[in-house]
Amino acid sequence: MSYPRRKFRYICLVIIALWFGDTAQAESAVASAHPAATLAGKEILEAGGNAFDAAIAVAAALAVVEPYSSGIGGGGFFLLHSQREGTNLFVDAREEAPGKATADMYLDSSGDFVRDRSLNGPLAAAIPGLPAGLVYLSENFANLTLQENLMPAIRLAKEGFLTGDRYEKMAGYRASALRLHKDAAKIFLDQGDVPKAGFRVIQEDLAETLQAIAVSNGESFYSGDLARKMVDSVVSKGGIWRIEDLKNYEVKIRQPLISSYHDVKIISSPPPSSGGIALIEALNILERYDLKKYERDTYIHLVVEAMRRAYRDRADYLGDPDFVKVPLKKLSSKMHADLLASSISDTEATSSSSLPQIGSRQKGADTTHFSIVDGLGNRVAATLSINIPFGAAITAEGTGVLLNNEMDDFSAKPFTPNTYGLVGADANAIAPRKRPLSSMTPTFLEGTDRIAVMGTPGGSRIISMVLISALDFMMGAGPIEMVSSKRFHHQYLPDQIYFEKDGLTSSEQESLSKKGHKLKESGRNYGNMQVIVIDKADGSIDAASDPRGEGSSLVW
Ligand code: DON
Repeated sequence: MSYPRRKFRYICLVIIALWFGDTAQAESAVASAHPAATLAGKEILEAGGNAFDAAIAVAAALAVVEPYSSGIGGGGFFLLHSQREGTNLFVDAREEAPGKATADMYLDSSGDFVRDRSLNGPLAAAIPGLPAGLVYLSENFANLTLQENLMPAIRLAKEGFLTGDRYEKMAGYRASALRLHKDAAKIFLDQGDVPKAGFRVIQEDLAETLQAIAVSNGESFYSGDLARKMVDSVVSKGGIWRIEDLKNYEVKIRQPLISSYHDVKIISSPPPSSGGIALIEALNILERYDLKKYERDTYIHLVVEAMRRAYRDRADYLGDPDFVKVPLKKLSSKMHADLLASSISDTEATSSSSLPQIGSRQKGADTTHFSIVDGLGNRVAATLSINIPFGAAITAEGTGVLLNNEMDDFSAKPFTPNTYGLVGADANAIAPRKRPLSSMTPTFLEGTDRIAVMGTPGGSRIISMVLISALDFMMGAGPIEMVSSKRFHHQYLPDQIYFEKDGLTSSEQESLSKKGHKLKESGRNYGNMQVIVIDKADGSIDAASDPRGEGSSLVW
């Protein structure tokens, strides 16, 4: 691709930014969960695009090459920093419940929750937000056209990509659900079998869908031919989508949550994500301790106690802010943290059941993340999802659009856990056009000398992963250490520390058990974090992709 005029403008902008910017910034970086998506971002940046153009290209490429993680039939959050304006913005392209959704739609006649309905097939799918998110970025922030930015993804869909071990694992996990839907099975399986690494996945329909989105600027997807095709397909399979649901969909532009941990500024995701608020609550609690002075076992204990309390508030208070009043000021206040911290002992675990029960106050995988920084200092942290691997395992026929199962992120019945074991109360009950509560936590950390752009998939464990790596950053860690941190997790209920394979040493396990914690080791490692760190003094950049995944990061 060659864009000589744009390239010239880009070089001028870099010179201007270097001259006037408060941080010297010239390097660019992309860290994403798939090498082909990272390369798509690099291609667009080199063609004169900025970080927002690259975000469109990377998101669309991931939708093609990581169909188990995110997609055009899903949604997500983009946290943006515009260096020229000096502003941060949060683009909420989260999926929305269809207009015919009801609070009890996943309960059977005896009032019992039927998980299969919220996870598999047409009823599980909420109205997708990602295409609208890409159009919003294109109209408001891009240097290049939507067509130019979608081109790498269109190419990958048309020519196909080769599957790896991760694809094999994810498809294996969802093979039985995919086999139930002919159209999805044809695209994502190898004649009904789980593809072995090296299999080429070609998605011609998806290439045409992306092309139609580019040409119509999203109109076809939300009110034109594609919209009709998707609704017909969903309804014919027993779903409840209507054309109005797609027509009504719009991205919501929200102010990110801002807080501080000592002298580091935290910029993170507001509701309908629970991530930013839980991260801020936990950091506010931990700010009360001189964490450096504790042995690692006590450090883990204190972090777990902070997680326990933050996740309790998540379950109790959080939901779509356009439907429920979320007391953000109170929850993010240092006074609230004082109150929460007052019941923490250095030596003994609090039992979750001794904390106020949720709902008792008066009423009042898979996913993906990428981080991008451009030579001007613009930043994007985006976490995108179709929920569990391969979403609802169903495609809208003839469009190649794999549908999400984000409806399972609602609390289908009070106190009944969702697929991540998360419980919730009324604040996250299903309602027409409501957005399900998310844990996705794209975050910027601005220290006195360094800035981190970060995030990860991982369902409910996203927040605890971001917290652990943010604390590591505060203690001087770079991107490699941040993506490699050993992971442990507590989400209030179930009342246990869940930790990844080799996440805690045996002596840490012994010490935590002695303090009264229950422990549960996962048989595997989890998370797929992508981090970029900028050195404010000289603008140099360092980036890393989680060694647990197959992603790649490039700095140039
Ligand atoms: O929005 C959420 O919180 C979930 N749908 C994210 C799912 C996820 O990260 C799965 N990844 N392993």
